[in-house]
Amino acid sequence: MRERIYLCLAHMSGREMDYIKEAFDTNWVVPMGPNVNGFEKDLESFVNRREGKAPLDRKVVCLSAGTAAVHLALIACGVGAGDEVLVQSFTFCASSHPITYLGATPVFIDSEKESWNMDPDLLEAAIKDRIEKTGRQPKAIIPVALYGMPYQIDRIMEIADRYGIPVIEDGAEGFGSLYNGQSLGTFGRFGVLSFNGNKMITTSGGGALICPDAETAREILWYATQARESYPYYQHEAIGYNYRMSNVCAGIGRGQMTVVDEHIEHHKHVQQLYCELLKDVKGITMHGNPGPEYDSNFWLCTAVLDPDLRIKGQENAYRQVITGAVGGAAGVTHAASTAVTDCQPNSNVEGLRMALDAANVEARPLWKPMHCQPVYKDAPAYLNGVSEALFKTGICLPAGPYVSDDDVRYIVDTIKAAID
Ligand SMILES: Cc1ncc(COP(=O)(O)O)c(C=O)c1O
Repeated sequence: MRERIYLCLAHMSGREMDYIKEAFDTNWVVPMGPNVNGFEKDLESFVNRREGKAPLDRKVVCLSAGTAAVHLALIACGVGAGDEVLVQSFTFCASSHPITYLGATPVFIDSEKESWNMDPDLLEAAIKDRIEKTGRQPKAIIPVALYGMPYQIDRIMEIADRYGIPVIEDGAEGFGSLYNGQSLGTFGRFGVLSFNGNKMITTSGGGALICPDAETAREILWYATQARESYPYYQHEAIGYNYRMSNVCAGIGRGQMTVVDEHIEHHKHVQQLYCELLKDVKGITMHGNPGPEYDSNFWLCTAVLDPDLRIKGQENAYRQVITGAVGGAAGVTHAASTAVTDCQPNSNVEGLRMALDAANVEARPLWKPMHCQPVYKDAPAYLNGVSEALFKTGICLPAGPYVSDDDVRYIVDTIKAAID
């Protein structure tokens, strides 16, 4: 049996240990220090560069997680109890959960068909409707670069600016993705990055917030370090958080930055190969850049399955209660009480996932939209059916530096063999 091919595995450059060793040798084993500062500088150079234009001047603050970055961006936008925040429904829960940490309400916005991300028309309809229903403006807008694909940021920014609502770009999955030659996360007021183990680059766990200027970055840093006032003793006039990145983790990040461009190129190459090898397979469509302004990092490669496509063994889908959560969840999960839910991928998608799993290939359904999640059943949502349909028909295929051309051929051959 072949070695298992995972969805997206961390890949080291070989430089990481040098930076980590330096942290130990100089006793900077704390959540601050030269690696944190150096990693921030590296990230700033990376996100500020623009094709054919002068670089931007955004500042980056390294944090313990992308989720922490979403949380602090919301605080900096003034989100508090009773407020509403407009957020893309088709996302991972970390885009919306921090809204609830603050006692605010997420208002979910469905996707458009081209990028699969926030639908600008629905966004504007939702803004108008929320103002009419609540008499108050939503406090922030969170579009998400799902699987790395850019959202229609020019339209989203135009609407946001017209209503004076700040945009927090969730670029956790879109590190290195560009829209019109500019990095995601640098268009809105804030941009969220994640360096979790499966992301484009990793710090084992970690994240960062791209800030519009140095003053805002200082404010974020202050919140991330327990909001300490300048006294010789602990004086607190606001509630802060322990969200700063460790200097050891930042060492991993500095090492990773030496190979980030190679990683991105490899993800794009794998995507291209899937497209080439699957182009004549009826019933399977790869998701690609919808137009020349889009330049996805293809963090994960995704495809949709025609509902009529028959996969061998799909009649056995959802027969068994699954044990274990998607992605492992560090081994901690609740046991599922049922094998099915009222909203799940079509049987052919689960059939294909099982066929790939049996061939030692990890595949995963597209993320289940937040408006379909039981925990958000009472949240307002502005829908057009796009994200739910994608969830029912879509699948994520392995990508990343460890996936070789031979692996992609093997995966595609496995897919072809699974078709009935
Ligand atoms: C869309 C999205 N937003 C936010 C996050 C949160 O990042 P982290 O896992 O670093 O907290 C993730 C990833 O995990 C994500 O996929």
